[in-house]
Amino acid sequence: MNRILVFGSINIDHTYEVPHIVHSGETISSTAYRTSWGGKGLNQAIALAKAGANTFLAAQMAQTDLPTLSEFCEPLHLDISRVYPVPYPTGHAMIQVDTSGQNCIVVAAGANDRITPETVQNALEGFGQGDMLLLQNEINLIPEILRSAKAKGIRIVLNPSPCTDEVSSWPLECVDLFLLNETEGQVLTGKAEPEDILSILVTRYPAAQIVLTLGEKGSLFACGSKRVSMAACQVQVVDTTGAGDTFTGYFLSGLLHGADVEVAMGMASCASAIAVSQPGAAQSIPELSKVQAFYRERFAE
Ligand code: RIB
Repeated sequence: MNRILVFGSINIDHTYEVPHIVHSGETISSTAYRTSWGGKGLNQAIALAKAGANTFLAAQMAQTDLPTLSEFCEPLHLDISRVYPVPYPTGHAMIQVDTSGQNCIVVAAGANDRITPETVQNALEGFGQGDMLLLQNEINLIPEILRSAKAKGIRIVLNPSPCTDEVSSWPLECVDLFLLNETEGQVLTGKAEPEDILSILVTRYPAAQIVLTLGEKGSLFACGSKRVSMAACQVQVVDTTGAGDTFTGYFLSGLLHGADVEVAMGMASCASAIAVSQPGAAQSIPELSKVQAFYRERFAE
């Protein structure tokens, strides 16, 4: 099976369960607090590895945190030999989760936005045609990474999350597959309606595949004139943190295993439904056997 390199962030998530998301000027008490591994790069790499993809993670973090991460990743069959120790603090996120499971997140990038051109070359070394690269927007030098990966013939997947205005100035013609949500789609196209977002992206990047996730409204796929739509599974929501990362990992693992887009989207929607019914980001990503069982139940005739 082809390899996938995730080049992205590692965070330590500080999660506060709160009665409601705090308002400006307000002080509230949390009802529970925990720390756990997160960061979109690490979460998506874990989802890919759990889904059975041959996954490598390239990232930066503080030397002192590397042994704990290695221990955490040991049972996951995730290659972290390209996670580089640097003299900066590991990134962290402050996450509020309200009683309906919705969240809001503040990220402090730390080591994540200290990537150098040398790190880019080291991280991509040995990857080429037949391999896939997955990027998000929580590290610096993304334009350089896009160009270097394209020059090596690597298939590029971009999840432009969190989406900033700057993303539009990147060399997005290098991207083979976009995975984004409605908010990110709106930043990139200026449109709010899913069909409008898709038609603009398909016109702008005619060779690319687009997957647009719509939360509880499911997900859409577009490539040229082809469209696939997948309903979301209805579950009791506990914590939505990392749900998009879980969808991304399971969807791409499906493609890497040669599955049809419909099947990959179905598995991804089952995986993210299980993830939102558990607390946390990385720790809420389900095992493949659990996702397969849920998929069989959901799509049984
Ligand atoms: O997508 C969820 C992730 O976003 C969290 O784990 C947090 O670290 C932020 O990067």
